[in-house]
Amino acid sequence: MLETLAAQYRWAATLSPPDVPRSSAVLMAGMGGSGIAGDVAAAVANDAPVFVHKGYGLPRWAARLRPLVIAVSYSGNTEETRSVVDDALEAGLDVAVVAGGGQLGVLAAERDLPRVLVPTGLQPRAAFGYLSGATLRLIEAAGLVDDTGLEETATIVTTLLGEAMDGPAVPLADDLAEALSGRIALVLAGQGVPAVAAYRWKTQINENAKAPAFRSVLPEADHNEIVGWSTWGSATRNWVGVVTLRDRHESSRLAARFAPTLEQLERGASVAGEVWAQGDSPLARLASLAVVGDLVSLALARDAGVDPVPVDAIEALKRRLTEQL
Ligand code: PA5
Repeated sequence: MLETLAAQYRWAATLSPPDVPRSSAVLMAGMGGSGIAGDVAAAVANDAPVFVHKGYGLPRWAARLRPLVIAVSYSGNTEETRSVVDDALEAGLDVAVVAGGGQLGVLAAERDLPRVLVPTGLQPRAAFGYLSGATLRLIEAAGLVDDTGLEETATIVTTLLGEAMDGPAVPLADDLAEALSGRIALVLAGQGVPAVAAYRWKTQINENAKAPAFRSVLPEADHNEIVGWSTWGSATRNWVGVVTLRDRHESSRLAARFAPTLEQLERGASVAGEVWAQGDSPLARLASLAVVGDLVSLALARDAGVDPVPVDAIEALKRRLTEQL
């Protein structure tokens, strides 16, 4: 599935997005492997008001600010995302949908909502390029992003993965996976683009390697978390591996934090390695970091002998909740 990632970005680059109203604000609704498209959109749009909403219903401010609501759900059936759409339509807000079909696909067709139907047959998290790419094209159509960076991103992902999964990201990920083996990953990144990539690392390790993983974001972690690693010593150092995600576009004040932060963290965690973003556009930089995390999660799954594809825990939980309805 990962081999198709560059093609997914290319697909999004050539997409003709549906008409959406030009908007001064966007509310991104979605959960999990679909919801991260909202985080990507917010990081790429940077100064534009793109708000990420991962949960039920509408935030109260939406009635006043009247954002364009973009709902992203690969299955089209996620109850939280559907509830946002129901409430947004009820409130008379503009709604656009990115889905692989399902109930949201049906609703969007019935109500003739602007919609992008993405190719199906993948796990939601493996449709990362389709979902984030389509979302960015909608946000571009709404006038909140000038350049999505999709072309550059496809080129960089192709280079990193290689034509036959023999690109430079593969041995880098293998080394990182070796350093993380038997440890809980703590992915440390600066605010903005790298923080979203770090969240993708965390969730990919969770779902593909079926392992715990956490993300920390600078500068916030310097105001609390560093204290938490100061006293347990080898009790945590043997079990936690820190990977830092770096970006040449990070500010000098942010860059100055990494070395002293790692010194603090090393009191209670091992340093597993560092990855630097490639490319110029925010999306290319984000994807160049994320793709290494995807590979690390797959290497960890391989080394642990687990199948990266199924997510039984999520499906069982969804079934239980549906039975309660
Ligand atoms: O990775 C997963 O399978 C989950 O995180 C799903 O993406 C999440 O449960 C939401 O489902 P959907 O992406 O179909 O809206």
